[in-house]
Amino acid sequence: MTQRPGARAEIDLAAISDNVRALQARTTAEVLAVVKADAYGHGLVPCARAALDGGATWLGTALLDEALALRAAGITGPRVLAWLLGPDERWADAVRADIDLSANAPWAVEAIAEAARAVGTQARVHLKVDSGLGRGGAAVADWPDLVDAARKAEADGSVRVVGLWSHFAYADAPGHATVAAQAATFREAVGLAEAAGLRPDVRHLANSAATLTAPEHHFDLVRPGLAVYGLSPVPQVGDSRSFGLRPAMTLVGRLVLVKRLPAGSGLSYGHIYTTDRETTVGLVPLGYADGVPRSAGNVGPVLAAGRRRTVAGRVCMDQFVLDLGDDPAEVGDEVVLFGPGDAGEPTAQDWADATATISYEIVTRVGPRVPRVHVGGPSEGGDS
Ligand SMILES: Cc1ncc(COP(=O)(O)O)c(C=O)c1O
Repeated sequence: MTQRPGARAEIDLAAISDNVRALQARTTAEVLAVVKADAYGHGLVPCARAALDGGATWLGTALLDEALALRAAGITGPRVLAWLLGPDERWADAVRADIDLSANAPWAVEAIAEAARAVGTQARVHLKVDSGLGRGGAAVADWPDLVDAARKAEADGSVRVVGLWSHFAYADAPGHATVAAQAATFREAVGLAEAAGLRPDVRHLANSAATLTAPEHHFDLVRPGLAVYGLSPVPQVGDSRSFGLRPAMTLVGRLVLVKRLPAGSGLSYGHIYTTDRETTVGLVPLGYADGVPRSAGNVGPVLAAGRRRTVAGRVCMDQFVLDLGDDPAEVGDEVVLFGPGDAGEPTAQDWADATATISYEIVTRVGPRVPRVHVGGPSEGGDS
């Protein structure tokens, strides 16, 4: 993919390591850093290394290919769990690469066991129960069958159940009744599995929100994602700083055109913004194809020419426009869309608030045309 000159998503790897340290300080459980979706847009391998540097002992991915990419990059020490698996997976490659695999249903246990027998090794499996999210995991009614399939696969030595796990629906609303209810359902499922003879090493349930706000549900392993990248999963409760976290991504563009336009000039498609005086207009070559939400028209915040401003007019596929007033500006000047917030720039949370979404979406959607520049960490220079 061709990348944009001038634009960059600068990723502070030291912040990622420090965020993991801050999360580890809140729990006696081990930390699994979730690095799916290219580490929430931050770059898979450098961020995985930074998280390990901060004390994570596990890594988690949705896709098997993401887990295999970690191993291919030489990350062979820590446990890596992949959880969103379908019938056509490269099971044998997964087992050979020593990836922990999640199973939602007996067919998955059987596919993993068959691959382990073919490879001549023992596969590591985590059984997932749907404790109330209503998404992945075996339904409570189907859990005994999944446990039974796993016991059978354990009997011939092809599989060992090393984990039992589930995922919260609404931990970002601390104290919500579903949180305690899901934890209770999970405990019952664990009890049933252990009564059937399974002896898992780890039981795990907590995402970032539960890691930060529900220590009673940490079990043996917590699985934070968003918080690893320094963003608050519960902005209504506290911002990044209040949890001791630092946003790792700074998204920067550069002005590629600066011009004076008269009062009454409509800016960008549809002219939803009109200049109210003669003014300087700047063009930023980042658009919705780069992850800048189209819904940021007239509301997306930036730091440009020394001040906070909002996008003027519609965000286009490749570019948007700023009304810079009479402030001095030149082609090549930097425009900061978001960052940690300490130099006056907006944060990813500000973008989420302005565009009625969540900060997860703001960072994960930064597109492949924007180079990731990794600074300050164990794999500095390892840009992706
Ligand atoms: C199964 C699972 N565990 C943990 C996480 C991490 O969630 P968060 O980024 O809210 O910490 C995710 C992300 O969606 C997930 O799918």
